[in-house]
Formats: sequence, C-alpha cells, structure tokens
Amino acid sequence: MSEFGVYPDVTSLARAAAERFVTLAAEAIAARDQFVVALSGGSTPRATYELLATEEFATRTDWPRVHICWGDERNVSPNHPNSNTRMAREALLDNVPIIASHIHRIQGELPPEQAAAAYRAELEAVLGADRRFDLILLGMGTDGHTASLFPGTTALEERERAVVAVCVERLRAWRVTLTLPVFNAARHVLFLVSGVAKAKTLARIRAGQPLPASLVQPAEGELVWLVDRDAAGGA
Ligand code: 6PG
Repeated sequence: MSEFGVYPDVTSLARAAAERFVTLAAEAIAARDQFVVALSGGSTPRATYELLATEEFATRTDWPRVHICWGDERNVSPNHPNSNTRMAREALLDNVPIIASHIHRIQGELPPEQAAAAYRAELEAVLGADRRFDLILLGMGTDGHTASLFPGTTALEERERAVVAVCVERLRAWRVTLTLPVFNAARHVLFLVSGVAKAKTLARIRAGQPLPASLVQPAEGELVWLVDRDAAGGA
C-alpha cells in the first residue's frame, strides 16, 4: 500500500476524498487539458459526490474539462435504484456544469456482453490505446471485491480486455466491470472504505492477502486508501 489515511468519521473521510479529487483534477487539466475519472458504485462514495457538488467544491473544478466513467455497473436501467449511474447523477452529475457528452456511462440496461463491448469502444475513444485514467475511485466489499471483481470469478483473470461482463453467482446478478489491466494502468487510484463491517477484510488486505482489492497495484501510478476509524479497526 503506498499511502493509507485514517479519518475519524465518514464526514472527514468524504472531505479528504473531495479535496483529492479537486487537486488531481486541476493537475490533470493543467498537464493534459482534461481529467478522466472512473467513479465507483456502492454507497460509500455518495457523501464525497455530494460534497463535490456543493458550491465550495464545484467552483474549484473546471467541470467542462472533466470526463466521467464508471468502474462497474449493475445489470439495470439507468433509472433503477441500484444503478451506479443513477446514484452519481443524483449526488453529483446533475448538480455540476459537466458537458453531457462527457458522461460515459455503462449501459446496464443492455445484455451484459453487449454492454461490455459498447463500454470498451467508448473507453477506447476517451482514453486511447494506453487506457490510463487520471483517477479511479474504488470501494471494497466485505469479501474483498472491488468494482465487480469478485473472489473466484473469471473477471479477475482478464489480462487483455479493459471491460468484461461477469456473472456474480452469490448475487445472482450480472455486472459489467473494468479489469485489472485498466486499474493497474491508472495514474491515481483512490479507495474509500468506511464502517466496522469492513475492518476484518481491510486488515487482511493490509496483511497482503490476495483478495481482489489487493490486486489493484498501479504500476506507474499512485495508490491511496482513505478509510474511517471504524474500518481501520478503531486505530
Ligand atoms: C458496486 C461497486 C462495489 C462497491 C463495494 C462497496 O457497484 O457495488 O462498485 O465494488 O464499491 O461493494 O460498496 P459499499 O460502499 O456500498 O460498501
């Protein structure tokens, strides 16, 4: 782990994450004239997205130069309550001056293989051949999954394709997810983890056990874990 920050509660965790987002956006825009970020799903990042939409933070980001993608999506329509796209729209994207064509969602309403192929093509157009995101936000499940790379699934073995469809038997559901080659090519990866339910798994990851989330190790990028005190085991 290259950097590990512990915050007293979810509010200070969200603030630290939002600060990083704003700083990395400014750096990327200064260097390459755009900021290409993959958002994570789940519930943990919602507070960070809401903070980024406040006047205090939104005015510090050059939103028309931001491109938004996702790390994974569920097999649902964009209006479904479980849609990662819907969550990000409600918490952030509908409330900042982003350009509509800069929102590159995974089409969860399509058959999974078709959604994966469409998203692969979309990513190639946005990122080009090197597939380097400026920032990838990730969460972690209690089983150590991240994005939709679940333990024991074939998606973890993918070494070529940037995006795959994966059937998660435990959830009886299909997901579409970015793969390790993309996570590990990123310039910056930021994990956000909160809550006591994650403490045991986080301890295993810090001990170097090979759970999916510990396989995210950007080769030439920065890896940062921001967690709250509960997830850190009360430390
Ligand atoms: C998703 C995810 C997933 C999530 C973790 C943590 O679509 O569900 O991207 O990997 O980040 O399951 O989820 P919570 O933040 O809800 O605990």
